[in-house]
Amino acid sequence: MRKAAHLLQTGGLVVFPTETVYGLGADATNKTAVGNIFQAKGRPSDNPLIVHLSKIDQIKKWISEIPPLAEQLIKHFSPGPITYVMNHQGGFASNVTAGLSTVGIRIPEHPLALALLELADVPVAAPSANRSGRPSPTTANHVAEDLFGRVDMILDGGSSSVGVESTVVDVTGEIPLLLRPGGVTLEQLEAVVGGVLMDAGLTEKPRSPGMKYRHYAPKGEMWLVTGDGMVEKIQLISREKVAKGYRVGVLTTSENKGMYKGITTIACGSRMKPSSVAHGLYDALRKFDEMEVDFILSETFPEHGLYLSVMNRLNKAAEGKKIR
Ligand code: TXA
Ligand code: MG
Repeated sequence: MRKAAHLLQTGGLVVFPTETVYGLGADATNKTAVGNIFQAKGRPSDNPLIVHLSKIDQIKKWISEIPPLAEQLIKHFSPGPITYVMNHQGGFASNVTAGLSTVGIRIPEHPLALALLELADVPVAAPSANRSGRPSPTTANHVAEDLFGRVDMILDGGSSSVGVESTVVDVTGEIPLLLRPGGVTLEQLEAVVGGVLMDAGLTEKPRSPGMKYRHYAPKGEMWLVTGDGMVEKIQLISREKVAKGYRVGVLTTSENKGMYKGITTIACGSRMKPSSVAHGLYDALRKFDEMEVDFILSETFPEHGLYLSVMNRLNKAAEGKKIR
């Protein structure tokens, strides 16, 4: 841990576990180090990074005016899977914020992440530790698949408990603006602040630059299957595709896994337990790549709670392709 902290302090790249996904960290005040994050990931430079801090009382060191709305949310949800977009006063390297007047701040809730942030005692800019466009990593093995040899150190903290990224919420206005659904659900936010606006990348010029890029994508062509008779539709289409010579994979849940005889299936969790589906989602997408599946049919979920975040990621992975 001391070596990892020293690497961060001296401009190195350290991958560390968080409760959401693994992060690719560098000192957020070191422009060269931050530039190396973009390079290692192959990330477009107009997509800003989140800054990670070890303690709530560190926020005021970097943000001079914390909006009351932010204070309220921080009290309820931090440390945790949530990122607050607030106005900054220029303390971070310019490439962290991609030139925006705002910055995303998060205090993760993972003992290794917190220990590292505390030891390093620098603000740590960290996007998810995947190559750009790949599913986010939820294990150190996923990280190694994408970034081995491109970073100075990978800390292995086992599998990330939440499994989808943090909720990104812009707190610069009167009403919170949800930019990316994540580990903290819309319903949880609403219970604290009443109304929440949504801009999860559906508009032409999304407020969160990252939402416009293809994301979380497996290599195979992926379609989401929705509506009545979902299982029957998947059975029919998968058989047709197999007959045409495709390697077909079905993304399913433990409840339905037995329904697709003779087809490659991956159950990412139990439909009755949204947290298990979120936890297993990215590993499942990566497994399809390993199996060299070239056509993926995915079950879908009702868009409430954590399933709103799961469906957001599935939609991106499938580039919005749906069979109704
Ligand atoms: O759970 C997480 O948030 C993980 C872990 C490592 O903390 N990090 C993560 O970072 O997912 P990244 O870079 O993969 O996603 C950050 C998202 C992007 O969509 C980015 O565009 C958005 O947050 N974002 C960052 N700063 C922003 C800002 N100032 N305004 C609007 N969106 C911002
Ligand atoms: Mg990412």
